[in-house]
Amino acid sequence: MAIQLLAGKRGVIFGALDDQSLAWKIADVCHQMGAKFTLTNAPVALRMGALQELAAGIGAEVIPADATSIEDLENLFTKSEEILGGKIDFVLHAIGMSVNVRKKKDYTNLNHDWMQKTFDISAISFHKMCQVLYKGDHMAEWGSILGLSYIAAQRVFPDYGEMAESKALLESFARSFGYHFGEKNHVRVNTVSQSPTMTTAGKGIPGFTEFFGYGDNMSPLGNAPAEDCANFCATMFSDLTRYVTMQNLYHDGGFSNMGMNPKLLE
Ligand code: NAI
Repeated sequence: MAIQLLAGKRGVIFGALDDQSLAWKIADVCHQMGAKFTLTNAPVALRMGALQELAAGIGAEVIPADATSIEDLENLFTKSEEILGGKIDFVLHAIGMSVNVRKKKDYTNLNHDWMQKTFDISAISFHKMCQVLYKGDHMAEWGSILGLSYIAAQRVFPDYGEMAESKALLESFARSFGYHFGEKNHVRVNTVSQSPTMTTAGKGIPGFTEFFGYGDNMSPLGNAPAEDCANFCATMFSDLTRYVTMQNLYHDGGFSNMGMNPKLLE
């Protein structure tokens, strides 16, 4: 049995689409560690994905919410508090989508209406989520909010399109809201910058397989698997990390501090 690191904790997990999703693995680990939580995704993803299967397996309720809709978010957190029987201790934002990336648009030829949509879904939704949690006083004292990011926020990965700027915006929202939430009721807000991982969102990036291999060879520990990302996120939701806030935390096998790995030349 897993360590009951999250016993008694109440949470909300966004973004589990199928069993490859990072959020799916995180939900699994949080469940094993004793947390109670609701699961949520966009209504269209609920029709296409397998979230009900996960929910049934772990006895969680599913509440549909488009993360770009304030009304949906208000409903989600109000209902989650009712279902879970109290304020929320942790929230995972694992949401990303770019139509430009999906349609393989080159960075120098992006559609700007789609770019706005990317920012709204992948980054502004994080601010909306935090604002609804803040104004509705839904977070418990010493709670923890996490978003999932990628190192394209700091370095150039040409095929990542405007998701790079989305991640930069996401990390900045987490930092800024970390101040406000910390002052309000000791809630911490962070982002976890994860290695490339084979998920629906990941595989949508052109050349992802090569890119995955490059990351794996560059990192002394290799790419961090989804299961380990889940363990790390669970630690961030636990009381063992109460004073970590306003950070972008690399969970990447060392990739972010490498310049060159001779393994790549072999
Ligand atoms: P995924 O495709 O399984 O998850 C993305 C989720 O976003 C899906 O569940 C989708 O339904 C949801 N979503 C899209 N639009 C939404 C909306 N309007 N409202 C609510 N939910 C919406 O892929 P993955 O990789 O698990 O992505 C989770 C997070 O991890 C994303 O933020 C992604 O950018 C990030 N990440 C992924 C990496 C990878 O290589 N797969 C690496 C680093 C970060």
